[in-house]
Amino acid sequence: MVKFSEEQLRSLVELKDTISLHSDINGILKSGLRKTIEIAKMDAGVVYLIDKSGELLLQASYNLPEAFLRSVEKMWLGEGITGRVAMSGKLESVSDLSKDKRVARKIVKRFKIKGFASVPLMGENEILGVMNVVSFRAVKFDETFIEFLKKSGEFLGNAINNVIIYQRVQHQIEKMGKLNDISLEMTMFLNPSAILEKIPEYVKTLFQVKDYAIIFNKNLKLLSRIKSLKEVRSSGFRRVRLGFLRPSLGKFIFEAGKENVVVVNDYFSDRRFPVPPLDEKIFRTARSIMGSRLTFGRNNLGIIVVGSHRISAFDKEDEHIFKLFSACVASSIGNALLFYDLRNSFRRLRAAQKVIVKGEKIAALIRLTTQITHRIKNSLGAMQTSLDLLTKEEGLSQDGSELLGVLRLENRKLNKLVDDFFEFAGPDTKSYENVNIADFLNETINAFLEEVERKDIRILKQYDSRITNIRINPMRFSSLMRRLLENAVESITDGSGLIKVGYRLMRQNNARQESVEFFVMDNGCGMDPAIIPKVTEPFFTTKPGGIGLGLSIVERIAEQHGGTVAIESARDKGTCVRVIIPVR
Ligand SMILES: Nc1ncnc2c1ncn2[C@@H]1O[C@H](COP(=O)(O)OP(=O)(O)OP(=O)(O)O)[C@@H](O)[C@H]1O
Ligand SMILES: [Mg+2]
Repeated sequence: MVKFSEEQLRSLVELKDTISLHSDINGILKSGLRKTIEIAKMDAGVVYLIDKSGELLLQASYNLPEAFLRSVEKMWLGEGITGRVAMSGKLESVSDLSKDKRVARKIVKRFKIKGFASVPLMGENEILGVMNVVSFRAVKFDETFIEFLKKSGEFLGNAINNVIIYQRVQHQIEKMGKLNDISLEMTMFLNPSAILEKIPEYVKTLFQVKDYAIIFNKNLKLLSRIKSLKEVRSSGFRRVRLGFLRPSLGKFIFEAGKENVVVVNDYFSDRRFPVPPLDEKIFRTARSIMGSRLTFGRNNLGIIVVGSHRISAFDKEDEHIFKLFSACVASSIGNALLFYDLRNSFRRLRAAQKVIVKGEKIAALIRLTTQITHRIKNSLGAMQTSLDLLTKEEGLSQDGSELLGVLRLENRKLNKLVDDFFEFAGPDTKSYENVNIADFLNETINAFLEEVERKDIRILKQYDSRITNIRINPMRFSSLMRRLLENAVESITDGSGLIKVGYRLMRQNNARQESVEFFVMDNGCGMDPAIIPKVTEPFFTTKPGGIGLGLSIVERIAEQHGGTVAIESARDKGTCVRVIIPVR
């Protein structure tokens, strides 16, 4: 045990006091170095700290010229005496460097440095750096002097260590605060894509890196709902390209489980991920990587990966933050997806509800109208008979005959109204048959030929030979086609009228279901854009004698066949109505 003199003890207390005045590393090093030189009665000195990549970087100096400092700015671990001390943690001293054969540096000779001690700065478990104190004359380093220098190194090391720990804690607290804000923000998004869009910003805030990726588990049905998975992928990669994630790494991260963050310090030389012929670009962008599985409940959403172009860019704290961060990402995306699911189910429920309500209303209406129309039909029948009898009566005045004519016309109109109304609101007759489409359409069209010829309208049939038969309710469907042809004929008021009628097979590329599109296209008066949405409403008509049930009936019959109606029209150009029904 070395005994310090009273003077030495006092000096050490002085050193400790000096250092404790500073709370930043730079201040500690500067004042500590200066005080040590002063109390050790040396002339000059330098201090180095070891950085992450293992280089010794000059931090502070005392009483040495620029030219000297420039040449010793950086040193490698193990290089020279200083490098050796930084590796071994053992103090080394030389009484007279000018007589030491090991000293090769001309600069030492040039500046006439003689006494030299290289003191390790010890942290808690590691060597933080080296303090070199020099003298321009030879120095005798006895045991107490060496112990004294060692103690100084310990004081300095301790002080730096405390600052580093304090900074780390501060940093951690700051990051936790940020993470807290981020996780709060993330949970507010109800849309997975919105979260994905924010990830680059979060990654940058938390890890000061720009490279990141999210890869989803493609087999997951849950995620197939994210509409633009492709988009997500490409936007997910910033500077890093897809090759960044070798399948072997992706698999490794996925299999590591949800609790484990995989940290790769140097992707380039990590043997866990055998590298096929080297793709340098990849390694230039991501040398260190952190990856984690995104797990939500029992669902594995995929993995998230953050990368840096530096080696060993991530430390324990980053790993810890990353673990929490990936858990936040997983739960936010999972929640957003759940919300998607819920919303969709809710929408489907609402739609189903509407159909039920509509169905009930229609059923009640049907019962009522069936009764009423029967009565009206009976009365109309009786009126017709009376009118017929009256017409045969002799000695009717001219006026009387004309009035009778009006009555007959009105009677016919009322009859049509009742028939149309019954067809619109009445029950569906379930007599479906398999019919030859061409024959069926020809028959329906033939009923129009007379009127068409009279109005000088040409009919062009366009039939698709890929389909011949279809299962429909022929009575009803012929009524549908008739009403479309009626409208088409009525829309043509001058010559050179043309009506295209036909059908074609439609095969949706995704759906297995085939459908047939029936169409009636005219070059008649067309419609105002404003009325197109209204024309299928019951009793909407623009025609003087019209009832306005034609297209309502068309829509109803199409629905009864499980189909839909689409109307396109342009003023003075013409109209095309398509009825699309599935092939059953
Ligand atoms: N091919 C068409 N060209 C131009 N307008 C049309 C055509 N088809 C329908 N419309 C417009 O849609 C309205 C509604 O048509 P809808 O067939 O339902 O009733 P309507 O023909 O007026 O009367 P009806 O009940 O006698 O058929 C028509 O009044 C007309 O304004
Ligand atoms: Mg009509």
